[in-house]
Formats: sequence, C-alpha cells, structure tokens
Amino acid sequence: MKTRAAILWEPHTEWSVEDIELDPPKRGELLVKLAASGLCHSDEHMVTGDMVLDPELAEAFGLKQFPVIGGHEGAGVVQEIGPDTVGFEVGDHVVFSFIPSCGRCPSCSTGQQHLCDLGAFLLSGMQLSDFSYRHHAKDGRDLGIMVGLGTFSPYTVVNVDSAVKIDKSIPLEKAALVGCGVTTGWGSATYAADVQSGETVAVVGIGGIGMSAVQGAAMAGARHVVAIDPVAWKREKALTLGATHTAASMEEAQPLISEITQGAMADKAILAVGLATGDLIAPMMSLVKKAGRGVVTAVANMMADEVKLNLFEMSMMRKELVGCIFGNANPRYDIPRLLNLYMEGRLKLDEMVTTTYTLDDINQGYQDMRDGKNIRGVIVYD
Ligand SMILES: NC(=O)c1ccc[n+]([C@@H]2O[C@H](COP(=O)([O-])OP(=O)(O)OC[C@H]3O[C@@H](n4cnc5c(N)ncnc54)[C@H](O)[C@@H]3O)[C@@H](O)[C@H]2O)c1
Ligand SMILES: [Zn+2]
Ligand SMILES: [Zn+2]
Repeated sequence: MKTRAAILWEPHTEWSVEDIELDPPKRGELLVKLAASGLCHSDEHMVTGDMVLDPELAEAFGLKQFPVIGGHEGAGVVQEIGPDTVGFEVGDHVVFSFIPSCGRCPSCSTGQQHLCDLGAFLLSGMQLSDFSYRHHAKDGRDLGIMVGLGTFSPYTVVNVDSAVKIDKSIPLEKAALVGCGVTTGWGSATYAADVQSGETVAVVGIGGIGMSAVQGAAMAGARHVVAIDPVAWKREKALTLGATHTAASMEEAQPLISEITQGAMADKAILAVGLATGDLIAPMMSLVKKAGRGVVTAVANMMADEVKLNLFEMSMMRKELVGCIFGNANPRYDIPRLLNLYMEGRLKLDEMVTTTYTLDDINQGYQDMRDGKNIRGVIVYD
C-alpha cells in the first residue's frame, strides 16, 4: 500500500516527509494504523549523530541504520495480520513497546522484558521476524524502522513481539505515550530507583521522561520530589504533577536538598536530561546520601566513555550508580497497568502533551523540543 513517513536519510539532516510503499505483513507481523506518535528525544539522537552505529562495526555485521523511518512511541488499530500469526485480531488496539518482548529469552523468562535479547537488533531497522524490510522509498530503496516500529508514519508493519494489546476504551492518542516515555520515566523512579515512601528523590531534567519520573516518585510515596530543569515553566508544571520543590540546576539543588533533608541528602537521583554526558554524573551523585542511588536513564553518545565521578565517595559512602532502560519495566505487564492508572485519573497523561502536530510539522515539533517548549510533542494522525 501507499502511505507517508518521516525519513532520516542520514545524520545531521532534517526529517523528510515522503510517500512510501508498505508491504503487507509477513508471518508474525501486524499492519497497524496509528493514531499518534510521541516525539521522544531518542529519535533526536540519530539526527545529532549521538546514536549512530559505528560504520565499520555495522558493515561487519551487515547492518544498515540509514535511511530510517523514525518514531517509537505509538499506538493504533490492527488492520491486517500476517499469515499463521496468532494472538491478534483485526480491530485490536495496540500500544507499541519500544523494547520487544519475545517471552522466551533469559531476560523475558525472568521478568526483565526490558532486556529482551531481540533488543540487540533494534538499531538495524530491520523486521525482527526475518531481518528484511517492509517499508520502501519512492525509488524502491529499503527503509529501516526505528527500533522495529517506525511510528512517524500513519501506517506501519511491526512484529507481534513489539505490540501490547490494550482495552478499546483507552484513548489511543494518550496510550501512545506509555510505549516509551511515560513507562521509562515512571519505572526509572519505581523500579530502577526503587523509591520507597518517605524518601527524597531528585529528578534531573523534566521533559517527557523526567516528568514521568516525577509522577512515579510521587506515586511511590516520596516525601520530597525535587524537579531540576533550567526551563522555568517546566518547573511550575512539575509542581502540579507531584514535585514538592524545584531548582534550575543541580548546583542550585544541592543546598536546597541539604536543607530539606537536614544535611542527609536525597535517597535517589534520576538523570533524565536530553543528552547524558560524563560531566553530569559527579554532580548527580553528590545529590545523593550515604547508600543512595543514582539512576542514568538519559541516553549518551554511543562512543562516550569518560565520566567524572568521585570514587572515594562511591566506596566510603557506599553509593550506587545504575543504568535504566525502559524504566526496567515489563511492557506486557506494565503498559496495561499504567493505562489502568490513567483511566482511574491517577497517572496524568493528558497533562504530559504540550502540543500536537501533523506529520508534516515534525521538524517544527523537534525544534520546539530543543527550544524547551514541550513536555511532550505528539504527532496526531487522522
Ligand atoms: N533509558 C531509556 O530507556 C530511555 C527511553 C527514552 C528516552 N531516553 C532518554 O531520556 C532522555 C530524556 O528524554 P526526553 O524525551 O524526556 O527529553 P526532553 O528533551 O523532553 O527533556 C530533557 C529535559 O532535560 C532538561 N535539561 C537539559 N540539560 C539539563 C541539565 N544539565 N540539568 C537539568 N535539566 C536539563 C531540558 O531542559 C529538558 O527539559 C533522552 O536522553 C532520551 O534519549 C531513555
Ligand atoms: Zn523514547
Ligand atoms: Zn525476550
């Protein structure tokens, strides 16, 4: 079929919205008509060149990251099902999980679906079922899809392992957000940081991910949630979504957290800035107390390997520094769980969407993200 998509032909260029050809789903795949796609910062890392496979390594493994259809935060309705594919019906409503879950690998079978072995193939852009392509450019060239999804298109073909069925009463436009940002941020607080009631939590960077971490920390019963971001209106917004205090920078947060904890400092800190850099780790870890934990959720340049960190404090104050992918969540369990909380009015999703765009306005959407104008920008399809 013919449809349209926002393609990144190579890093350091804009998204190009073009007509494309989409093949029908093969075995183990679904054709889905999307309702919406969030504009997560992770797609931006391909534009800036931060999340780009090493060309030599890619060639050695026969992987081709570009051209790629972006987008990985989507929800929609199943239109067609590949042959011999069980578990789905036409008309089912699905949220895409940016990490697939095969259900059989060591990680999936031990309750760690966010580490599913299929994750290894996600930047190749190929279909997970047979490592080929369903999306093609006007000139016939194969198009990869971001993490096996490619939600910057009103229609896409994805593997069943990436689709989580949800109740039809849930608005798809909002459900899209739990496919990445909301689950990642909320789980950064509830799983990775393991926030307990009465704790003090610092969230560094309050965009789509950080604002969801603020909500997660508040829901877990944190006593203080300190939202840190240079953008003033986001700090105001955070106060309406569970933050108890705000600061414009980690430097400014240091004396504030010291004061509200009588010098003890925060139990947990979560790094959710746009781009993680090594110089942010020492200041984040200095916000946490003895035996406190720092969580790195923000994505760094793939080649970055230098970190500033006070190692004396790490051992003598028994601090922990941990990584976090998809909020350490289990998409098949946590996506429906979070949507239940949304439907009951407890998890705020409507408030997370600042601006909606058409697919043609995608570059404006990302410019607004860079300019600090959005908690989450969302592309809405017809
Ligand atoms: N680990 C995962 O599984 C996962 C999943 C999704 C996104 N991410 C990553 O999480 C990060 C955040 O994504 P997002 O969509 O929320 O981005 P965003 O651009 O919406 O938000 C980032 C926020 O950080 C703020 N910021 C920048 N530098 C700061 C600093 N030094 N101190 C305090 N605040 C600062 C910005 O003002 C902005 O509000 C990105 O790196 C993204 O790639 C990780
Ligand atoms: Zn994302
Ligand atoms: Zn798996």
